[in-house]
Amino acid sequence: MLYPVDLSVKPEVKGFFDPATNTISYIVKDPGSKACAIVDSVMDIDYAAGRITYEHADAMIAYVRDEGLELEWLIETHVHADHLSAAPYIQQKLGGKVGIGRYITVVQETFGKIFNEGTEFQRDGSQFDRLFDDGDTYTVGTMACFAMHTPGHTPACMTHVMGDAAFVGDTLFMPDGGSARADFPGGDAGTLYDSIQKVLALPDGMRLFMCHDYGPNGRDIRWETTVGEEKAHNIHVGGGRSREEFVKFRTERDATLAMPRLIIPSLQVNMKGGELPEADSNGKRYLKVPLNGL
Ligand SMILES: [Fe+2]
Repeated sequence: MLYPVDLSVKPEVKGFFDPATNTISYIVKDPGSKACAIVDSVMDIDYAAGRITYEHADAMIAYVRDEGLELEWLIETHVHADHLSAAPYIQQKLGGKVGIGRYITVVQETFGKIFNEGTEFQRDGSQFDRLFDDGDTYTVGTMACFAMHTPGHTPACMTHVMGDAAFVGDTLFMPDGGSARADFPGGDAGTLYDSIQKVLALPDGMRLFMCHDYGPNGRDIRWETTVGEEKAHNIHVGGGRSREEFVKFRTERDATLAMPRLIIPSLQVNMKGGELPEADSNGKRYLKVPLNGL
């Protein structure tokens, strides 16, 4: 696939770090207009208390309004397992279309079964406004954008490229963070390696924006790097590490990792585009916990 890369378009990228989940959400502004996109928003949850709030999303909404921006897209790089999406909440306030990768249908099939969702749960991705295929293009104002299918962490993972800025989701972490796990249902370390190579085949000067950072070795949180930096220094794939080495390392590492703290509420909500469960007969909403289901 030859992707329509154009490094001459340089969007303004504003990161919003969520310390509760180490997620970075982005507002990406078209340099040629007031149009913008939001990538990977976060809805706040106090899981122990069963309490949902919207401080993080409200801060992004306030920024869009204060800057006089028009929100055109709410992009989900993938179905996140460690935080809940605020896409429907933001869409209700600011409009815009919600987009995710086509293979969300695979994720819906897998987790629809695990959560024993009834037939009313459509596994066709229809909760989203747009399902992206590899190489699909779209615009944010005057800015041409495209999606790259980068599976491995999950089957539906996409990297979104907007001018000289690429949003890699959990395909890569910062060079000293390496890569994300590939052991969720539908994940695959070899596939992740191949997807990382697709990202690293972008021009060296392409800015890369991470979905997560955990500040390895006590450094401050950072979320922006470049293809060139990752190629040279990424501790898991940099310096030309082979596929075989990566798969061995990743598989061994993943076997030692605990489930993410918020995986149960996150998947349950995010596979439905970020919609909370329907209200029960008393008007309250409940999350399910599958016992020995994951
Ligand atoms: Fe993820």
